[in-house]
Amino acid sequence: MNSSNDLEKNRELEKANRILQKKLDRCESDRKQLEMDIAAKEFLLKQVISELQCSQQDLARRSEELQITLQNLQNMQAQMLQSEKMSALGQIVAGVAHEINNPVNFIHGNIKHLEEYNENMVSLLELYGRHFPNVPTEIQVLKDDIDLEFIKADFLKVLESMIIGSERIREIVVSLRNFSRLDEAEFKLVNIHEGIDSTLLILQHRLQATLKRPEILVFKDYGNLPNIECYASQLNQVFMNILANAIDALEEKTFKKTIAKITIRTSVINSNWIEIVIADNGVGIPKSIQTEIFNPFFTTKSVGKGTGMGLAISYQIICEKHNGKLDCFSSIAQGTEFNIKIPIEQPRLN
Ligand SMILES: Nc1ncnc2c1ncn2[C@@H]1O[C@H](COP(=O)(O)OP(=O)(O)OP(=O)(O)O)[C@@H](O)[C@H]1O
Ligand SMILES: [Mg+2]
Repeated sequence: MNSSNDLEKNRELEKANRILQKKLDRCESDRKQLEMDIAAKEFLLKQVISELQCSQQDLARRSEELQITLQNLQNMQAQMLQSEKMSALGQIVAGVAHEINNPVNFIHGNIKHLEEYNENMVSLLELYGRHFPNVPTEIQVLKDDIDLEFIKADFLKVLESMIIGSERIREIVVSLRNFSRLDEAEFKLVNIHEGIDSTLLILQHRLQATLKRPEILVFKDYGNLPNIECYASQLNQVFMNILANAIDALEEKTFKKTIAKITIRTSVINSNWIEIVIADNGVGIPKSIQTEIFNPFFTTKSVGKGTGMGLAISYQIICEKHNGKLDCFSSIAQGTEFNIKIPIEQPRLN
């Protein structure tokens, strides 16, 4: 009896064991499936994260590109404005030169006739004097009144100063034309010294003494330069920007014992390079901003006084358009020196 009971129990236990084993097997396979699912999801998640990171980088790159494009656009706009301004100035200058040219030529051309007429009239008067020494009182009174002897001497002086004046105006007209050079849209062989001189002439009024500072003296040390292949009006624009900056820097300094000066030196460096140095003994540029002065819009001047484009444009004209070099050396309170190097002949594109 007992043994048959045990047998029965044993069978039941075995059955329960089998059921449990099956459940265990099923659980095991479920676990494996779950693990596989999790691994697949993890893989997917990692993929999504890496794609997200990629697109994030892409976005950052694009926004950087956009930033650069925007900056370029702003630069371009400013450069266009500046060159528009310069070309407008060039046009005005050329127009004024043209308008002055005709009348001054009338004056200049007629002076030699005046000289001749005067000589003839004086000879005639002298002849009268010799043949009619005793003139009526009325004529003698007028002669004394107008001081004929003085008029004779002074008339020549007046003519002389008219000749000097009209020659000076003619020089100014040539300089103004030189400065504007509107006709020259391509590389031409140009006398650099003429360009510097006409730019100085246009800035002449700014060199004169003011209440705050003495007259700015300009020292020229011109070398024996050949004609240079360049865009003349663009180079004049560079001289204008650098000289105007030098005057500004001299304006900011107080001069008690020293003189305010700008020195311009030109020289040939070798068979294909020349150098133009423009130096001032103005306030100088602090070391901390020396690297920034060629950046567009960088200015230390008050709003409305400086746009911060002068040197940026100059750099572009010298380095990009003329394949040259533009450097600046400066120490505070001592002054600043701009060093322009340009090829005598432009490299030929084949
Ligand atoms: N000779 C100089 N001496 C001292 N500082 C100078 C000199 N030349 C340039 N700088 C400095 O460099 C800055 C940039 O010059 P830049 O000619 O580009 O602009 P700006 O003179 O300020 O304005 P603008 O566009 O009207 O010329 C000036 O604001 C000034 O601080
Ligand atoms: Mg300037």
